[in-house]
Amino acid sequence: MMGMQRLLLLLCSLMLLSTASGLTLRFHCRRVCPRGWTPIFGRCFKYVPTHLTWAQAERNCLSMHGNLASVHSLAEYHRIQWLILRCSHYSRTAWIGGFDAVQEGLWFWADGSFMRFTNWCPGEPNNAYFGRQHCMQMNYSGRRCWDDHVCNVRIPSVCVRKRSRFCG
Ligand SMILES: *[C@@H]1O[C@H](CO)[C@@H](O)[C@H](O)[C@H]1NC(C)=O
Repeated sequence: MMGMQRLLLLLCSLMLLSTASGLTLRFHCRRVCPRGWTPIFGRCFKYVPTHLTWAQAERNCLSMHGNLASVHSLAEYHRIQWLILRCSHYSRTAWIGGFDAVQEGLWFWADGSFMRFTNWCPGEPNNAYFGRQHCMQMNYSGRRCWDDHVCNVRIPSVCVRKRSRFCG
C-alpha cells in the first residue's frame, strides 16, 4: 500500500515536472502510420485500387503526404506485394515510384531516395513501345518482378509516407 502511494506521488511529481518544463508532449509522442496505412519496416504503405496514370497516381500520393512507393529490399517488396487488404478492382500490376522519364536509363525514386535495390524482370527495363516506357510497375509477369511501362496507362498504385507524430 505504501509502495503504491509512493508510486502515485512519484508519477504526480513527474507529471508536474514535465508540464512545468513543457515536456508533456514529448513524453507521450510516438511515430505511427495514419489510419489506412500499413507499417512496413518503419515506413507506411497504402495500396490505391483506383486506376490512374503514373503521374496521377503520384499526385494522389502527394495529396496524402506521400509519394509513389520506393522499395529498398526484397523482404520489403514481398510485404508490399501482399499489402492489399480490401478486395477491389483486381489488377495484378501496380505503379511504384521508379521513373527514368528525365533521362533514359537513369532511374529515380519519386520520394527522392537513392535506387540501390532493384528487382527488374529478366530483359527489363527494355524501354519498349518506341522508347516510351519510363515508369515502373511492380508484380509484372509470372515472376511478379519490375517492368518499365508506358506512363499514361491506368493501373492501381502503391504509396509510401513517413510515420507521423502522434501525441496523446
Ligand atoms: C501481386 O500479385 C499477387 C499474385 O497475383 C497478388 O495477390 C497481389 O495482390 C499483387 N500485388 C499488387 C500490389 O498488385
